[in-house]
Amino acid sequence: MAEVERVWVDGRLLGPAEPAVSALDHGISVGDGAFEALKVVDGVAFAMGRHLVRFRRTLTGLGLSGFSEDRLREGIETVLGGSPIPFGRLRYVVTAGRGPLGSARLDAPLTYIVAAATVEHPDASGSLVTAPWTRNERAATAGLKTTSYADNVIALAYATDRGAVEAVFANTRDELCECTGSNVFVVRDGVAITPPLASGALAGVTRELTLEWAREAGVPVREEPVPMSHARDADEVFITSTTKDVLPIHAWDDRSYAAPGPLTARLVSLFAERAASSMDP
Ligand SMILES: Cc1ncc(COP(=O)(O)O)c(C=O)c1O
Repeated sequence: MAEVERVWVDGRLLGPAEPAVSALDHGISVGDGAFEALKVVDGVAFAMGRHLVRFRRTLTGLGLSGFSEDRLREGIETVLGGSPIPFGRLRYVVTAGRGPLGSARLDAPLTYIVAAATVEHPDASGSLVTAPWTRNERAATAGLKTTSYADNVIALAYATDRGAVEAVFANTRDELCECTGSNVFVVRDGVAITPPLASGALAGVTRELTLEWAREAGVPVREEPVPMSHARDADEVFITSTTKDVLPIHAWDDRSYAAPGPLTARLVSLFAERAASSMDP
């Protein structure tokens, strides 16, 4: 697949390697920014409305004001314009703009960055490893999609080194939480169970759609705390995320699962059907 990479920063379309942001941008110096990642299919971004709702929540959680949706949309239209990206990822970031050399903020204009690139289609299933680090459900940034993502970078590298697609975090209560860039579901006795948002997990757009569409189709789903001690003791496991949609899991540490198991298979097709019927559900 030909690699397409488009980058727009503060009103300018740039080459992917062109310098664009101040070295003193607070997003770079301390990770003071919000972001979203959306799936792109045939040049169209999926679930724009829901991603924007979450994005605004992150900006509020960070205490960043002055966001212009029109400015962001200008960037999105620019990177998605031209020849349609068949399957890819759109990523937008808004940072606090120029900052001092510390954690305080200057009252500077926000920085807007929008990028799109082709990505590979996911494999039919993947494996998980348990991360040796925890998610802090009481952190100031819990549930926010901020550019302070180094915890996820480290844990994903840990998973990749072990041949896994994702690393699973427990929270400080030793309950199942989420992965580095995906939510997690375990299937027990015919019910798909995912940790509630109080676990510290990000409110994944794919998780939300999976829960809504499952309920509408009469597929049993529940949000409830899952003690880590028996999280892997499930009949089926799957993860959800932008670009992976509903991804069956065939192994988690030393446990193996049918992938897809029957309930996961139902949700994989339900998600595909519903997503094909509307790009902004
Ligand atoms: C930490 C984390 N959890 C879960 C998800 C899944 O969310 P979504 O379905 O919106 O992609 C993401 C998305 O990247 C994430 O970063």
